[in-house]
This record gives sequence, C-alpha cells and structure tokens, in this order.
Amino acid sequence: MSERAEIFEVGPRDGLQNEARAIPVADKIALIDCLSRAGFRRIEVASFVSPRWVPQMASSAEVLAGITRAPGVSYAALTPNMRGLEDALAARADEVAIFGSASEGFSRANINASIEESLARFAPVASAARAAGLPVRGYVSCVTDCPYDGPVAPEQAARVAGALRDLGCYEISLGDTLGQGAPERVGAMLDAVLEVVPADRLAGHFHDTAGRALENIEVSLGRGLRVFDAAVGGLGGCPYAPGAAGNVATGAVAERLAALGFETGLDREVIAEAARMARAMREG
Ligand code: HMG
Ligand code: MG
Repeated sequence: MSERAEIFEVGPRDGLQNEARAIPVADKIALIDCLSRAGFRRIEVASFVSPRWVPQMASSAEVLAGITRAPGVSYAALTPNMRGLEDALAARADEVAIFGSASEGFSRANINASIEESLARFAPVASAARAAGLPVRGYVSCVTDCPYDGPVAPEQAARVAGALRDLGCYEISLGDTLGQGAPERVGAMLDAVLEVVPADRLAGHFHDTAGRALENIEVSLGRGLRVFDAAVGGLGGCPYAPGAAGNVATGAVAERLAALGFETGLDREVIAEAARMARAMREG
C-alpha cells in the first residue's frame, strides 16, 4: 500500500486574492463547490482581512454562506486579528489561520506589524479560536527569501515556526512566498525548522515563480513532510510580494506525488475541471 500525502487546496484564497478583476461571488462558489467533489480534506476559501488591503477577499462571508459544504471537508479562512476571527466565526469557517513572516520587511508590508507585534496580535486570536473549538493553522512567509530584505536565515524561519507552534497552531505551513527558493536553501531551512517543530506538524507552501516548487516538494518529502499547499490551475500570488507567481498547481503536485508512490485520494478529473474553471475566471 502506498503512503499518504495530502494536498491542502488554497486556490480560492491564495489563488484568487491577487486577481485584479472583481470575481463574481457566484463564480467563486462554483469553483469551491467543484473542489469539494475532488476529495480534499481541507480547502482555504476565505480571508477576513481589511478590504482596503485585499479587495478581492471582501466577499469572504458571502462565499462561506453560499457554498455547499461537503461532509468531512474543513473550509478554512485567514484571520490576521480579532476582528477577522469574529467575522470568521460568524461566517462559520471550520478552521482559521494566523499568518506571520520570517522576515521583518514582509511582515510590515503584509500586515503592518513587526514580527514581535504580529505574534502578540496572534496570541488572543489563537486562544479565542481554540476556545471556540476551531483548529488554528499557522503560516510563516518568506522562509528563504523576502522581497524587501533579501535572503532569510533558516534560524529566522525556525524561530517564527516555533512561536506559532507555541501559540497552539496544529500545523505550520512554510511559505516560499516569492517562489524563488532553490532546493538546497529550502533543505537548509527545513533542517533548522525541524530542530524546533516535527515534520508531522509542518506543511510546505511553495509558490512557483522559478519553476522549482515540485523539486522543493521532493526535498520536503525527503525530510518527512507529507502536507503541501497548492492552488488549482496554479492561480495566484501575494499582493504584497511583488513579482511572485502563483502557488504550485494542484494537478501538477497530485501527479508528482502519484509518480513518487504517494496516495492523495484526489480525483484528478475533478481537479482538471476546477483548473479549467479557475483559468476561465482569470481570463474574465
Ligand atoms: P492596519 O491598517 O494596521 O489595521 O492593518 P488597523 O487595525 O489599524 O485597521 C485599519 C482598517 O482596517 C480599519 O478600517 C479597520 O476597521 C480595518 P478603516 O477605519 O480604515 O476603514 N480592519 C479590518 N477590516 C476587515 N477585516 C479585518 C480588519 N482588521 C482591520 N480583519 C491588517 C492590519 C492586518 C488588518 C492589514 O494589514 C491586512 O488586512 N493585511 C492583510 C494582507 C493580506 O491579506 N495579505 C495576503 C495574505 S498572506 C499571504 O498570501 C501569504 C501566504 O499565502 C503564505 C505565503 O505564501 O507566504 C499565507
Ligand atoms: Mg501564499
């Protein structure tokens, strides 16, 4: 029997947040409803951030209200602060995520706070979410490279990953936000993080600007990671990481994992259908 690996679908959030055109809520819902048939256990569909900062995500509550929830699927939302958490609870998100950065420059550009300030802001969000029975995921952005500060030391990623673990995050997703991480540097970063957080509580989140995301997934598999974030159709980018491309495409990750002997439980026909929808949304 082959070993399991999981793809955490982030297309409806990370994929769409960067689209300049206001995508109709009905189209977002249709995409999520399609993805709900693909076999994912977790799909990130919403982001309760300031609509001034990320206008595309302003419809998150309507999206969560409109989707048909498939049994066994956890519909996740980003929550940068208490206001975001309150909105996520009201919209009945199944889990939430706090998102920090390994680099100061990106932390300030993305959430208008230093790393220390952001961790202080996340602490009540994480404890209130857990008190409400919601699992909390953590992201560390810029684990190898920052668009503002340049190369990031592996110890920086490890420190923030450890801090998010201490706040009660059940899993910490390591973000190559710029998608420029070379496999050797990703390996060195993972070695430092693994000193602090075990592999079964880590996920890899690779954008694919330099086309090396699949190699970085293989490096991560070699170090014991079994969860990878991906966006259907390779949609996206981060509005506060200039020049960064989309997440690695879900279909490509599913294919590579299968070729390496990992079972994802995903229906690749449905993923192909969702990728067509995602591309049509991008083209307007
Ligand atoms: P701030 O300006 O410091 O916050 O922004 P503030 O508390 O002073 O509030 C400013 C305004 O925002 C106020 O409104 C608040 O009401 C409003 P105004 O009086 O100006 O009209 N506000 C909110 N509105 C809705 N929902 C909220 C909320 N909070 C405040 N939750 C803040 C701080 C965090 C809010 C802002 O910086 C922000 O929204 N940043 C989000 C940026 C973002 O979403 N980036 C993309 C996601 S991260 C990512 O993509 C990386 C990841 O994929 C991993 C990887 O690839 O590395 C996860
Ligand atoms: Mg991302």
